[in-house]
Amino acid sequence: MEVIIQPTYAQLVAVSAGIIRDALLKKPNLVLGLATGSTPIGLYEALTRMHKTEGLDFSSVTTFNLDEYVGIPPNHPHSYHTFMATYFFNAVNIPTENRHIPQSTAVAHEEFCEQYEAAIVNAGGIDIQVLGIGIDGHIGFNEPSSSLGSRTRIKTLAQSTLKANASHFGGTVNAVPKMAITMGVGTIMEAKQCLLLANGESKAEAIAHAVEGPITAEVPASVLQMHPRTVVIIDEAAAAQLK
Ligand code: F6R
Repeated sequence: MEVIIQPTYAQLVAVSAGIIRDALLKKPNLVLGLATGSTPIGLYEALTRMHKTEGLDFSSVTTFNLDEYVGIPPNHPHSYHTFMATYFFNAVNIPTENRHIPQSTAVAHEEFCEQYEAAIVNAGGIDIQVLGIGIDGHIGFNEPSSSLGSRTRIKTLAQSTLKANASHFGGTVNAVPKMAITMGVGTIMEAKQCLLLANGESKAEAIAHAVEGPITAEVPASVLQMHPRTVVIIDEAAAAQLK
């Protein structure tokens, strides 16, 4: 696990966008695993700028998002489909058919999850998986106690996650969908490289547990210690509790 501490969020974004740009220049048909949430917004803005000003080409890129809420339609203002369209997909040239996001409305969930896993394999596996981290140490929506070998499936969200995400749903915890489809911890661990991004003091404890704590299902991000190519890119506030 390589840990890169940057003074500010802007610098964290520059480092992570640089890693993705370099990888894309080497491999135009890069397979990217993508996260939503506030953390990667700056990264998507930086990649969009590179697309518009440097001609960084995403036309052969394939993407797989980590997760999506269950029970809200893709066009819901706070679905992760809408998030990705708003912050990234509408601004770069990734072909529509190459973008994959778990289906919030899938009826046959188990079959859908198996197909999602198969699609990742068919694409040749994920080259770079972008990850944020929850204050409870989750990655994707793999909440504490998730099996470290888990695959894409439905998960019930932890109360702390519902609270953290309530601001996107009018501030009401009850309005946040209680379940999500998420890639499993095992699915994430198969990515060739993981970029774990975190900023702000609210993430400091989770980062300390993930990077320096014991590997435990209680902190799903801690399993990344076993991943051969994980880069943790954090600002000083998120690094504050590292030894
Ligand atoms: C979202 C995801 C989540 C977030 C995490 C942090 O696709 O997988 O694990 O990365 O909840 O969210 P933010 O960045 O909003 O603090």
